[in-house]
Amino acid sequence: MISIDWDALRVAALAATTHAYAPYSGLAVGCAALVTDGRVISGCNVENASYGVTLCAECTMIGELHMGGGGQLVAFVCVDGSGTSLTPCGRCRQVLYEAAAPGMLLETGAGFRTIDELLPEAFGPASLPTPLDDA
Ligand code: THU
Repeated sequence: MISIDWDALRVAALAATTHAYAPYSGLAVGCAALVTDGRVISGCNVENASYGVTLCAECTMIGELHMGGGGQLVAFVCVDGSGTSLTPCGRCRQVLYEAAAPGMLLETGAGFRTIDELLPEAFGPASLPTPLDDA
């Protein structure tokens, strides 16, 4: 089983907050995750004058996941600009679920949680009539 360096994930997430574009909320968000192949990926929030199309940090991170060859997420952290843990929003829980390795762990504002605790009874790849082979 791959070992999780939580401190390294926190450092990567905090570094990601420095790239945030958050002129509207003022909340810089950074996140980072460990991929099954050992990569550490990260993302930051990118806001927009049309507020509703803002990209959460998790969304830009998932872009990096796929640009780097895909894979599944083993562990995840999300922080603000001062390093305080944040809990992913509802939409991002769904985004993360799609890429989660079984038992994926997340450090949240309330402590460590599994993806299944954050998104119980999830609708996911297995819910579709023709599930993906490698989901
Ligand atoms: N935000 C994230 O980046 N991830 C979340 O899971 C929750 C919210 C961002 C979006 C917006 O730029 C700012 O936090 C305030 O909502």
